[in-house]
Amino acid sequence: MSPFILVLLAATAPAIHGFNVTKILGEHPDFSTFNHYLTVTHLAGEINSRRTITVLAVNNAGMAELLGKHFSLPTLRNVLSLHVLVDYFGAKKLHELTHGSALSSSLFQATGAAPGTSGFVNISDHRAGLVSFSATSDDSTVVAADTSSFVKSLKELPYNVSIVQISKPLSSPEAEAPAAAPAPVNLTNLMNRKGCALFAGLLSSDPDVLKIFDDSAEGGLTVFCPGDAAVKAFTPKFKNLTADGKSSLLLYHGHPVYNSQQMLKDNNGVFLTLATDGGAKRSFNFTVQDDGEKVTLETGVTTAAITSTLIDQDPVAVYQVDKVLQPLELFKPEATDAASAPAPAGHAKKKGKKAAPSPNADSAPDAAPADQVADSNTAAGRSVGVHRWFAAGLAAAVAVAMVS
Ligand SMILES: *[C@@H]1O[C@H](CO)[C@@H](O)[C@H](O)[C@H]1NC(C)=O
Ligand SMILES: *[C@@H]1O[C@H](CO)[C@@H](O)[C@H](O)[C@H]1NC(C)=O
Ligand SMILES: *[C@@H]1O[C@H](CO)[C@@H](O)[C@H](O)[C@H]1NC(C)=O
Ligand SMILES: *[C@@H]1O[C@H](CO)[C@@H](O)[C@H](O)[C@H]1NC(C)=O
Ligand SMILES: *[C@@H]1O[C@H](CO)[C@@H](O)[C@H](O)[C@H]1NC(C)=O
Ligand SMILES: *[C@@H]1O[C@H](CO)[C@@H](O)[C@H](O)[C@H]1NC(C)=O
Repeated sequence: MSPFILVLLAATAPAIHGFNVTKILGEHPDFSTFNHYLTVTHLAGEINSRRTITVLAVNNAGMAELLGKHFSLPTLRNVLSLHVLVDYFGAKKLHELTHGSALSSSLFQATGAAPGTSGFVNISDHRAGLVSFSATSDDSTVVAADTSSFVKSLKELPYNVSIVQISKPLSSPEAEAPAAAPAPVNLTNLMNRKGCALFAGLLSSDPDVLKIFDDSAEGGLTVFCPGDAAVKAFTPKFKNLTADGKSSLLLYHGHPVYNSQQMLKDNNGVFLTLATDGGAKRSFNFTVQDDGEKVTLETGVTTAAITSTLIDQDPVAVYQVDKVLQPLELFKPEATDAASAPAPAGHAKKKGKKAAPSPNADSAPDAAPADQVADSNTAAGRSVGVHRWFAAGLAAAVAVAMVS
């Protein structure tokens, strides 16, 4: 079973098992600033995706002190990621540390952002019941002054997440160092390395399309890349498309909003794509569904399943799918019974080579699925059925449509 399926299985368990740090902290108005910055630095999502984690929260007064240093957002993210320990420390454990102290990795350290031996948090359980926290630094002289202490426990879900208040923000020279915004994900490079090399090759051969993907990645993007076997099987059909058709087909595999695995399940419904035209038609969409485990994408022609995750890091998620997504705007629903076979063949012959599918349904009404269905109303009963089913699916899905 792929890791993705495993994660989905875990996430399908009753909602009580998952946690949402934003929601938990939302019950504590005195932590609204800390909560806000966990969201804008995208740390909240990172926290929610983990288990066995401790959040050292700072109240609004403490955050005012930190914000007074006017860090850039990437630097603030590093400083705040010092406040997320990748181990579980409830109030009880904090007051019963073996040998009186423990060194815990923080998210700053665990994600490889911290240089040298910095990015750990030294927790000390002093005799008088005082528990102190300090960030380690390669420059050990600076740190002692920045010791913070345990105030109270805010929430404990053993051993998934513990949220405790500490008296003031932790910091270290390394965390405060000017940080560059994270380098944008190199999509083609990632796909090359993780099973979508052929699709990456198609993107690279169409610079305008690749630029649209790259530009979208900055503001939020979900890509569904067909695996190499799927692209290979599809090559004859791809070669048959016009240049515009090829571009549209590639763009059809991108959705201009970031969707984590959980969000895909929560947002079941119609997804617009990078190929969707701006007009009222909202063409080149597909429907995302899940059966609790498997997430599928239904185009009306193809039903593809997500098989693995290449990256899921706000603002970019890339999932591998087991089929090339064929939009209704470029392909006919496949006839599965013999009765409907003559209809598509006759249709193709009538159109001849010149009528190669166009990506733009507006300028080539012949290529629009509704017209095809009307053309072959009686002969292609199966095709009509598929189309109706798809329309019904859309209607049902529109209520929860993800059409942002
Ligand atoms: C977490 O909770 C906040 C506030 O209740 C909500 O806006 C957000 O969508 C939730 N996040 C997830 C991933 O459910
Ligand atoms: C952690 O801090 C305590 C005192 O606060 C100190 O004795 C101990 O050596 C420190 N541990 C590390 C690994 O820095
Ligand atoms: C912690 O997470 C696991 C698996 O996600 C779940 O089974 C368990 O009930 C959770 N514990 C609490 C206290 O939420
Ligand atoms: C992405 O990586 C490839 C090499 O795999 C490189 O040729 C390309 O220039 C990179 N693109 C960007 C935008 O850095
Ligand atoms: C390519 O297009 C021609 C004419 O439209 C058609 O006859 C042929 O079956 C197509 N080939 C594939 C592989 O789709
Ligand atoms: C999806 O695209 C079809 C055209 O293929 C369009 O008729 C329909 O309105 C679109 N659905 C949504 C919800 O935008």
